[in-house]
Amino acid sequence: MSYGLGVDIGTTYTAAAVSDASGTRAIPLGRDVVVSSVVFATEGGELITGDAADGESRKQPLRASHSHKRRLADPTPLKICDVVRSPALLMAAQLRDAISLATATRGRPPESVVLTCPAVWGPYRREHFSEVPRLAGVRDAVIVTEPEAAAMHHSVERRLGEGEIVGVYDLGGGTFDATVLRARRHGMEILGTPEGVERLGGIDFDDSLVALVDQRVDGEITRLDPADAAHARVLLAVREACRRAKEELSAATDTVLRLDLPDGTREVTVTRADFERAIAPQLALTTDAFRRTISSAGLRAGDLASVLLVGGSSQIPLVADTLSKAVGKPLRAGLHPKLSVALGAAALARNALRRSPAVPAAAHRSAAPAHAVPGRPAGPPVPAGAPTAGMPVHTNPPAPSGPSAHAGPAGPPLPGIRPAASVDELPVRRRNFTAAPPTRSARRRNTAVIAAAAVTVLAAGSITAAVVLTSGGNSAEPTAPAAANGTSTPPASSGPLFLHDGRDVAPFHSMVGSEANWAGTALTADGKASQQAVAVRPADVNGSKDGRQVTWTGKGAAQFYVQNPQGRLDATSYVESGTLTFDVVVVKAPTAEVSLAAHCGYPCAAQLNATSSMRRLPIGEKTTMRIPLSCFAGKGLNAAAVDVPFLVHTTGTFEAKFAEVRWEPSGTTGSAPVIPCADLS
Ligand SMILES: Nc1ncnc2c1ncn2[C@@H]1O[C@H](COP(=O)(O)OP(=O)(O)OP(=O)(O)O)[C@@H](O)[C@H]1O
Ligand SMILES: [Mg+2]
Repeated sequence: MSYGLGVDIGTTYTAAAVSDASGTRAIPLGRDVVVSSVVFATEGGELITGDAADGESRKQPLRASHSHKRRLADPTPLKICDVVRSPALLMAAQLRDAISLATATRGRPPESVVLTCPAVWGPYRREHFSEVPRLAGVRDAVIVTEPEAAAMHHSVERRLGEGEIVGVYDLGGGTFDATVLRARRHGMEILGTPEGVERLGGIDFDDSLVALVDQRVDGEITRLDPADAAHARVLLAVREACRRAKEELSAATDTVLRLDLPDGTREVTVTRADFERAIAPQLALTTDAFRRTISSAGLRAGDLASVLLVGGSSQIPLVADTLSKAVGKPLRAGLHPKLSVALGAAALARNALRRSPAVPAAAHRSAAPAHAVPGRPAGPPVPAGAPTAGMPVHTNPPAPSGPSAHAGPAGPPLPGIRPAASVDELPVRRRNFTAAPPTRSARRRNTAVIAAAAVTVLAAGSITAAVVLTSGGNSAEPTAPAAANGTSTPPASSGPLFLHDGRDVAPFHSMVGSEANWAGTALTADGKASQQAVAVRPADVNGSKDGRQVTWTGKGAAQFYVQNPQGRLDATSYVESGTLTFDVVVVKAPTAEVSLAAHCGYPCAAQLNATSSMRRLPIGEKTTMRIPLSCFAGKGLNAAAVDVPFLVHTTGTFEAKFAEVRWEPSGTTGSAPVIPCADLS
């Protein structure tokens, strides 16, 4: 089937998505759906990308390039081991591998390719960027701005109304873009002048954290010499630890970094408050830029219907706090903050395809328009008012066990782009993407990865949408009697417990998430958490403060869930006749659909409709609900790798207390009757 390909080469991550008549979905470029934007130059001069480059760069950091997108059009030459490699050349290698992977997995090259660039880039940078598809041998790529692509994705998901004006706040790894767009029947119209901060993103927040940690270790990090290979490895590991810590702080209120420094191992605790203090001035720059772009369009914040939060760094809770104070408008976090640009680009690529004959992109001859924003693609309708929940972020994903090849793992090895002193000296490579069908085993491998991680966007009204995707494996079976904080002893006969005696059972954490922050807010030590649309506090169910009372305010889609951020739980032995069992007291009946879900790393997830079951319960009385795990398995749950065993979601108002959330093996006695799957659909 012909398809369009969207590729988002970000400063820190690269993502790709395909779109065809059956929908739009991300394609995994490695073990995860997104891969690091790192390029590694082998001694033979080949440029490798993706997971393979990531792995090699840890061993030989001086042969690797990170964040080169920021260096595009920079007059200072970018050198890897004394050889000049233009950023465009490095990005071309990334594009080449993304296209090769798409070609290998789909069995044919894409018919159209859309690439994205920051909206703040002027003509000079865009001209340099237009070298990227040329160097990759793609002759007819369309280039659109990242916020336009993200808004396109949003319009597919949420159906922006004709004429609706939205702001896009895109804070990624290296750039901040602020844009105001009006939805038009045939696409997006930019209003006013996009503003931004060219060198502001996640890597700067990583730097802030490195500086903070450096103070705590008395300057040991500053004393490292980046030109020394051993020190460079340490520095890379420190940066990596800071990036992870930063992401963890979006869900937790503090985190501990363990750093292996030349003078020994040091442990440093950083709180979210420390981190927020460090980055607050940078975030103030983003809101200033956001206000400027609104004024440049002759508008006021009140004229915006909403603000779309795009980019991985928009998951930092302080972003939503700062922005909602600044603009006072509803914030809509995308379902896939790191993927929405690629997904929107793919949808645009498919639109372009529907208007032109299906000829592989690599064979097109005419120059692409510099800027084209085709309209919203057709596809299965997203139900009005459909739930728009995202899956909780894996703040500390398990070490993946998937294929470790570079971004083009299928088929015969792809020849590298030759090193050259500058773009001008590069021979223009005309790759023929129709060649080299994948080997059967590579095809199987790719299919498996796709099956494990593709995101079907056009069905995104589902609660199972993911924000961050991790590969499976690393099952972690917390043997049942592991009680949280050693304060409670679960019944010996039970299966794994997730919530017991008012506490999370390690390694599970209770979280709330909503459109304001799908990354999720962890409960504080006193058992509380809140976002605009959902709040949780301790409550009495069977005894004193042994449960959690969750209040959905009706101010948007929101969820309460229990997640293991470190691994996956194997439920296979429970699936045949075991149950998800929990105590529930309905305080206020739900006014909208209530979904009950379990996740196993998106899109392996299953969602049941618990609306009537909840509505039937007597108000204020405790009931034990037992739901066969086979109902979840029947809806697509991979029971061998469950990371979220319990998730309740609604868009309306609802209030309930939950306690003793667990899996029970078959034959557990003394429990309430099991609810048939038919009552949950
Ligand atoms: N939960 C999180 N909390 C805070 N930051 C996060 C979280 N998840 C990802 N990030 C950060 O988001 C950044 C990556 O976002 P994204 O993939 O949107 O950027 P990019 O596309 O590589 O960059 P750009 O669009 O600026 O070129 C990284 O710095 C990453 O650490
Ligand atoms: Mg980006």
